[in-house]
Amino acid sequence: MSNDPIFRTANRPAPPVTRFRQPADVFEALLQSIQGGESHARPTFELTPGSPLLAFMEIGYALRACLEKPERHDYLLHRLRPHLGVLIGTLPASIMPLGMLPKLAPPPGFRPLNAIADDEIRAWLIQEGSLIYGEMQRFELENYFDAVRPYLSPGGVMVDLGSGLGKVVMTAALTLPFARCIGVELLSYRHRLAQERCARMLTLAAQGLAALPEPLTPETPLSLPSGVVADGRHLLDLGARIAFIESDMFKVDVRGASLVFLYSTCFGPLMDAISNKLARELAEGALVSTTTFPIRHPAFRLLHAFAPGQVSWTSVMLYQRIGPVMTEPAAEERYLHQPDADEWEARVRQELATLFA
Ligand SMILES: C[S@@+](CC[C@H](N)C(=O)[O-])C[C@H]1O[C@@H](n2cnc3c(N)ncnc32)[C@H](O)[C@@H]1O
Repeated sequence: MSNDPIFRTANRPAPPVTRFRQPADVFEALLQSIQGGESHARPTFELTPGSPLLAFMEIGYALRACLEKPERHDYLLHRLRPHLGVLIGTLPASIMPLGMLPKLAPPPGFRPLNAIADDEIRAWLIQEGSLIYGEMQRFELENYFDAVRPYLSPGGVMVDLGSGLGKVVMTAALTLPFARCIGVELLSYRHRLAQERCARMLTLAAQGLAALPEPLTPETPLSLPSGVVADGRHLLDLGARIAFIESDMFKVDVRGASLVFLYSTCFGPLMDAISNKLARELAEGALVSTTTFPIRHPAFRLLHAFAPGQVSWTSVMLYQRIGPVMTEPAAEERYLHQPDADEWEARVRQELATLFA
C-alpha cells in the first residue's frame, strides 16, 4: 500500500468569494486571485540599449531572417540540425510570427546567421527553451504541497528558481508556514507581473481581514489551506514573507533555502548546471523538487518520484541534499535526448510549407 496522499485529478469548482465570514474565505479569495497566469499576453522583448537580452535578440533576429526567406530555409535547417537535443518543439517559438522577438528591424551591427558560431546557436536554443512559460494548475500545486509537507519542518525558506508570475511563491506563502518564500525570475516583464499580482493579493488580504466579523490577532490559531495549524501572523505578515527578485537564477545564491522548487520541464539542458549550483550552495538536508527532469548528482538523494498524473501532468521528483558542501561539479551532460534528425526535418518542412502557403 502506498503512503502517498490521495491526489486530486482536477480543480474543484471555485465560486467567487462574496463575503469574508472566516479566515478560510480570505485564503480562498487570495488563492483565486493568483490563478490563470499561463494565459497572460506575452509582450515582445524590449530592444533597448543595455537590455540583458540584446545578445539573445541578435541571434533570434539572425535565425528569424532565415525563416522569413524561403531560399534560406535549407541553411536554417543546416544550422539547427546539430542542436536538436536542446531544441524544444519543431522550430524555436520566439522566431515564429507570434514569438517574443520585436517586429522592428534589427539595429545596425547585429550579425547575420553565417557570422554566428555553432556554440552560440546552441546556447541560444537552451535559453530560448528555458523561457517557455507554463504554470501548474491549482489542484496540482495543492497536490505538490501535500507531497512535500511531510518532509518539511515549520518555518524555513522556499525558493522558486524561474518564478514567472509568482503563483508558486504566493501559493507556498499561503499554504504552508514558511518563514519566507522567494521567487527569482529572469524576464523583467514576468517579474513585474509577479510584483503586481502580489500587490493585488495583499490589497485583497487587507480588505478580507478588515471585513472579518472576528478580528484576526497575531495569536489567533489559524488553519492554513494545507490543514497545517499556524497563527494569525501567517496572514497578517503575508507581505513580509514574500519576495520577488529579478535576476538570472545562476546569479542568486540560494544558501539558506530549505525547499527549492523548479518547474524544470523546459530546463533539460540546464539541469547539470542547476544541480552543480545547488550542490555548491545548499546545506545538508535541504529539499529540491524538479519536474520532468531528474537531478543526477551524488549530492542529492531521491526521496520520492511521482509519476506523471499523480501530483501533476508531468513527473515530479523530490530530492534531499546529502553530505558535505561540494565545490567540484560532479554531473555531466546526461539529460539530452537526440530526436531523429530526418523526422525533425520533415516536420519543419511541413510547418514551413504551412507558414508560407
Ligand atoms: C515554466 S516557467 C515556471 C514559472 C513558475 N515557476 C511556475 O511554476 O508557475 C519557467 C520560468 O523560468 C524562467 N527562467 C528561465 N531561465 C531562467 C533563469 N536563468 N533565471 C531565472 N528565471 C529563468 C522563465 O522566464 C519562466 O518564467
